[in-house]
Amino acid sequence: MRVEFRPLETKDLEIVFCWRSHPRIYKWARHQSQPLDWDEHEKWFETLPSLSVYYIMEWSGRRVGLVGLDANDWVSIYVGDESAIGNNVATKGLKWICKKMADRAPLFAEIHVDNTSSKNLFKKVGFNFVSENENWEIYEYSI
Ligand SMILES: CC(C)(COP(=O)(O)OP(=O)(O)OC[C@H]1O[C@@H](n2cnc3c(N)ncnc32)[C@H](O)[C@@H]1OP(=O)(O)O)[C@@H](O)C(=O)NCCC(=O)NCCS
Repeated sequence: MRVEFRPLETKDLEIVFCWRSHPRIYKWARHQSQPLDWDEHEKWFETLPSLSVYYIMEWSGRRVGLVGLDANDWVSIYVGDESAIGNNVATKGLKWICKKMADRAPLFAEIHVDNTSSKNLFKKVGFNFVSENENWEIYEYSI
């Protein structure tokens, strides 16, 4: 099934807030260890630098996750809708962002050592392990 991509908009903030406040998602986030605060979430969106680009992933006619790149070329991806997990959405999303942002390569990812599914995903799409620091592994995608 196709995965469609469109830029993150204000109308998506509530669903992204729900996804990012779920422990299944934030337990693997480098800079988040608890559910989000709504005001900070809104501020995050309103003050995004122009080089930060985030896209909603739509699958089966609904919003299921987010993929993007911050201003320093670090990739984020998560599938917030449980029912979409394991359907290749993340694989398509990661391949898509790597292709779309190819002019910004190398792209980077920081992944917890225990996040096996994410490590498998990034390696499958062509990211290479670079280094490890205190349980966080750095991966790099070059073209
Ligand atoms: C990581 C995540 C995005 C993968 O989403 P997904 O829907 O399972 O992704 P896909 O269906 O495209 O699977 C991609 C690959 O991930 C790996 N994978 C997925 N689930 C896995 C599991 N339970 N165990 C091991 N590897 C797994 C596999 O390599 C899989 O490819 P394959 O099926 O060809 O072997 C999703 O689990 C998620 O949102 N996790 C929480 C947030 C997160 O960790 N984000 C990344 C932070 S760096």
